[in-house]
Amino acid sequence: MYRDTPHPIHRRDYRPPEFLIDHVELRFDLDPDRTRVEASLEVRRNPAATRGDGTLRLHGEQLDLEEVAIDGHRLAPAEYRVEPDSLTLQRVPDRFRLDTRVRIHPNLNTALEGLYQSGDMLCTQCEAEGFRRITYFLDRPDVMARYRTTLIADKGRFPVLLSNGNRVEERELVDGRHLVSWEDPFPKPSYLFALIAGDLSAIEDRFTTASGRDVVLQIFVEPHNLDRCDHAMQSLKKAMRWDEERFGREYDLDVYMIVAVSHFNMGAMENKGLNVFNDKFVLARADTATDEDFQGIEGVIAHEYFHNWSGNRITCRDWFQLSLKEGFTVYRDQEFSADVGSRGVKRVADVRLLQAHQFPEDSSPMAHPVRPDSYFEINNFYTATVYNKGAELVRMQATLLGPELFRKATDLYFTRHDGQAVTTDDFVRCMEDVSGRDLMQFRRWYSQAGTPHLHIEAAYDAERATYSLLIRQAIAPTPGEPDKDPLHLPLAIALLDPQGRELALRLEGEPNAGEPGTRILELRDWETRLCFVDVPVRPVPSLLRGFSAPVQPRFDYGDDDLLLLLRHDSDGYSRWNAARILMQRVLSTMIADPEAEVPGRFVEAFRGALTDPETDKALLAEVLTLPSESFLGDQMETVDVDGIHRARNTLREILGERLVEELLSVYRDNADVERYAPTPDAIGRRALKNLALGYLMAAGDARALTLCRAQFAGAGNMTDAIAALRLLVDHGGEDGTSALEAFHRRWSKEPLVIDKWFSVQATSSRAGTLGIVTGLLQHPDFSLRNPNRVRSLVGAFCTANPARFHARDGGGYRFLADRVLELDPLNPQIAARLLKALIRWRRYDAGRQALMRTEIERILAAEELSSDTFEVASKALE
Ligand code: PHE
Ligand code: ZN
Repeated sequence: MYRDTPHPIHRRDYRPPEFLIDHVELRFDLDPDRTRVEASLEVRRNPAATRGDGTLRLHGEQLDLEEVAIDGHRLAPAEYRVEPDSLTLQRVPDRFRLDTRVRIHPNLNTALEGLYQSGDMLCTQCEAEGFRRITYFLDRPDVMARYRTTLIADKGRFPVLLSNGNRVEERELVDGRHLVSWEDPFPKPSYLFALIAGDLSAIEDRFTTASGRDVVLQIFVEPHNLDRCDHAMQSLKKAMRWDEERFGREYDLDVYMIVAVSHFNMGAMENKGLNVFNDKFVLARADTATDEDFQGIEGVIAHEYFHNWSGNRITCRDWFQLSLKEGFTVYRDQEFSADVGSRGVKRVADVRLLQAHQFPEDSSPMAHPVRPDSYFEINNFYTATVYNKGAELVRMQATLLGPELFRKATDLYFTRHDGQAVTTDDFVRCMEDVSGRDLMQFRRWYSQAGTPHLHIEAAYDAERATYSLLIRQAIAPTPGEPDKDPLHLPLAIALLDPQGRELALRLEGEPNAGEPGTRILELRDWETRLCFVDVPVRPVPSLLRGFSAPVQPRFDYGDDDLLLLLRHDSDGYSRWNAARILMQRVLSTMIADPEAEVPGRFVEAFRGALTDPETDKALLAEVLTLPSESFLGDQMETVDVDGIHRARNTLREILGERLVEELLSVYRDNADVERYAPTPDAIGRRALKNLALGYLMAAGDARALTLCRAQFAGAGNMTDAIAALRLLVDHGGEDGTSALEAFHRRWSKEPLVIDKWFSVQATSSRAGTLGIVTGLLQHPDFSLRNPNRVRSLVGAFCTANPARFHARDGGGYRFLADRVLELDPLNPQIAARLLKALIRWRRYDAGRQALMRTEIERILAAEELSSDTFEVASKALE
């Protein structure tokens, strides 16, 4: 049991800070065993806060306090109080200088929050509340200060010493030590502080901003990784230019630094002027990184760069406002990737991600609004809801306002709130002020959890030539929110005639028809009735185009309607969605009846799409991918783990058999021998080719096995190599074993590639996978201390291998709980994240429910538990 049961933090308890800190001077004497941190804070009362009794309580955790002084006078221990999470000073002056000296121990820091050691370097992670593990401070985002940071370290071991802002001093000291000072002219919250010490090399480039300022760009990595930073650098320059053009945002310091580290809990961190990255999102070379990696790097580099305005210049008042920076920044990086790649494909990928992660979260015991009302541990709230649903809320506002007004509104937001710590409400107010629209009801999206369902019914009246729609919203209760209110949302719609052409739309009462194309309808009520007039034929509705709102639409399409949308809809999302509904229909019949036949017209539609020369290859690959086992499970009353797995495999096999010739020619037509390039076109071709190979392998075709072996042996890039490896491992036998051996031998010195080697084994659908995964825990390359490695083996097994993780005997659940208990004392954030794989236990049959519940209870009964894991486990059982 958690020792002192943690208490929740409530949004409604927010109070402005009683004290502000204007300036911080930090001095680090760096050493992995014991680092000395001296802090000098200029503190003053906050005139905007209610006056208290002059008690100053600073946050601080795991700090060995050595000295405290006020205005140069050293305090006696009786003059202050130290508790495990704070330092309290009574009756402090209205304005004073506070000096503290503490010791910290980077090499014992396995939680990777605060100052820690990663390989041979020292680095920091301060978001959300890690700065308090470095020094005593008001570690909350609405306290913004200017920092001057001095770093002292052994020059041989740590020749590179970095912190935020500009380098202002550098000199040699005695005993082989050196000193570097940095000054950041922009006031910032403590979560944006960073420092790096290491033996690093950098690639360097330059960027001239729109107004002609010259910026030095540097990417720091361990010297042997220098040859895989180019893609990250190109991505950074593209992102900088794009943000100027699309949002009018320029960079504001003389230097922009990125550092890649191998131990990192998340993807990357936007520290002012000094981004720290999980190396997975920096390092890429054609032979070591997949197309997905290349795209991930481009997106994450852009995301962190965009934070400089949406996050750093304008930050969050408190952590309940996290989506203010994350939702907006995800929206910005999505738009960037859409503009530099292919918009339709990007939208489908984002929708797929939202449906795979956010929708399930929204119907789980951890469901929470985009702006949560309470939490035990803020680290548990870096979620798909805050990030991805948050981005959808920004997208809907952009849709409601239209591009010009939306740009005016973001301009207003950036000027009005520059230098401030604000709320999601302030963001929406800018939308209102610029557009003159009332978004009061729209704000509910931020405060209400749960995914709305849209039930749509249509009736065509041939005599009157009308097409009427009845649209009903429904939102299921979520924890703590039994009653819901209807939402304001944009529904993008088109009507297609039987040839698939868009009709001109005219609503009852409108003087004339508009141009043929998409129309944005605004819904506000539980029930909306609309009537289109002058509709010459019974149309097929193309609904929720571009996925215009994060809802689950339900419309009773006939199979022919779906085939028409699949063939003709100009909207990528709608085509993909039509294919998925068709596939889902076939699969649910097969789940219910293992003997069910696959309808011939379905196979023909698939053949038609496969050989369609018009469509973007990447979109085709999305369209032709069967819905995942998890997605299929989400659509069922009770998840039928084994039925889904069987039906999906059977359908893959049948499609592979019936379409063998088409699949072989798709494979051949797209098997490039050209030099690798991660361009949208080449990525699309590889995706389609490897998809075809997958169907062929599922059918057990002998030619496919030959192609697959050859592709593995001869692959000139990691995308093709890993696709073939995955298929060979699933195929099993000597092919799988020898491919795994060869792969490990070749890449044993490349941690990011070895992560893939673990993942491929963890996600294999072969029956013995749990045994193999358990065995791999003992592999010399495995370590619980590296989050990427944990994710690649344990995370991949528990979240991307539903058939094996949810094995009827509960072995997968026991495996997960054992890992959570081992990890919790080391790295609570990673432990709590893994545990989320169990929280939807009520979705399964009684037998599995009991097994999952038992494991969650076993975790809750543990001697000591972090607040992170405690929160997930206890909410799971509520
Ligand atoms: N703020 C980071 C991002 O989204 C994510 C992050 C959160 C990283 C907490 C580390 C710790 O870009
Ligand atoms: Zn972010």
